[in-house]
Amino acid sequence: MNIRFPENFTWGVATAAAQIEGGAFEDGRGPSIWDVFSRLPGKIKNGGLPEVACDSYHLVERDVEMMKELGVNSYRFSFSWSRILPEGTGKVNEKGITYYKKLLALLKENGIRANATMYHWDLPYALQLKGGFGNREIIKWFCEYASVLLDNFGEDVDMWATFNEPIATYVGYGQGFFAPGLRDEKYARQALHHLLLCHGEAVKLFRERKPGHGKIGIVVDVWRHYPEREENEEDKAMAFAGNEIRGYGMFLHPLFLGGYSKELLDYFEENQLMPLIAEGDFETIRQPLDFYGLNFYNGLYDNADKMREREKARKEGGNYQDEPENHPEALKDVLHMLVEKYHVNIPIYITENGMPFDDASGREANLDDQARIEYVKNVLIWLHKAMEEGADVRGYYLWSLMDNFEWSAGYDARYGLYYTDYEKAERIPKKSAKWYAQVIREKGFEVER
Ligand code: NOJ
Repeated sequence: MNIRFPENFTWGVATAAAQIEGGAFEDGRGPSIWDVFSRLPGKIKNGGLPEVACDSYHLVERDVEMMKELGVNSYRFSFSWSRILPEGTGKVNEKGITYYKKLLALLKENGIRANATMYHWDLPYALQLKGGFGNREIIKWFCEYASVLLDNFGEDVDMWATFNEPIATYVGYGQGFFAPGLRDEKYARQALHHLLLCHGEAVKLFRERKPGHGKIGIVVDVWRHYPEREENEEDKAMAFAGNEIRGYGMFLHPLFLGGYSKELLDYFEENQLMPLIAEGDFETIRQPLDFYGLNFYNGLYDNADKMREREKARKEGGNYQDEPENHPEALKDVLHMLVEKYHVNIPIYITENGMPFDDASGREANLDDQARIEYVKNVLIWLHKAMEEGADVRGYYLWSLMDNFEWSAGYDARYGLYYTDYEKAERIPKKSAKWYAQVIREKGFEVER
């Protein structure tokens, strides 16, 4: 079978500021919530800190050289809010501007388009002290930041995403596993509502300013849940909650259909979690977008009995784990759902997809990453099928260019096409890097089946 993608398909790699840049306290950068959270004992696996990470603050030329080696035509990265506005608002840090100008100039020189995310989870700590996303003032703060970005980089960015994976703010405010480490679902729901408003206002600002030739959208991850036993009521309820209550439902519904779904509103009502919603909020949130960025990793099958076993084992101090399952076919289903259920009738980009390897499996196993090649190949096969059925997907970005700071998994989970040797600040191409370069050159690959 011949899997070929269109001539003008976007092939990219993705990263994010807090995960690669380092230079956390250099040249005037202010701390972000991740700098503070990662210093709390036990929050990050093996105590990894994002302070140096891949040192991209100093090695940006090498980053772009790697992109050239791969042959990508687009790079997805994020701006660090606290590098640009150390206090979150107010004084602009010119050195931060210079850093991103340099990155953008390098991309341009090398014919690589820039796909920039305004917010990839690293809120300035100064703003968290004022309540962060829980404070409605965040809309004003975010617009100030977005305005600095558009003024300085508007000419050079081809694609803008306001937010990456808003669900991370729920994990950080409601569940405590991410920065800032709070466990208050009511606060988290309010924070998400404000985040959606920040998105809407930033899109409006973008439309008013009309900077350069760029397009604007948002990146929402979809981990679609399915009941493992189709007729089992408990499994069905779990999958429903995973999708509509604690998953993509809270974002896709207001962004594309308008307002929160009835099911979500009922859930808020029953659990006293209703956020404060002002008149006009839903109109603000539902702005016409130029593209939708889908982060896709896997489909999930829920089984209530297995969940109970897992919980029991955990309580008894054991470590029950399901065999990891891989469901690349869910991608096709998700792409259909976006159009059929949420009426996403704009170009879609797969803005992230990838697979982690454990650091513990060692350097050799990490470099010889055939399993990653197989994983990506399968996802691309299902993507191709979906496109044959009409899905309007314009590009694919692999997560990630190189191993980096994987949030609460620290440096344990390695997602890169390049192996990062953190001691020597070196990046070494893995087997998958050579394979991906070939796929890009040939716009696809052959499969026997
Ligand atoms: C989601 C996030 O956007 C990114 O920051 C993260 O590293 C990858 N997926 C892998 O977990």
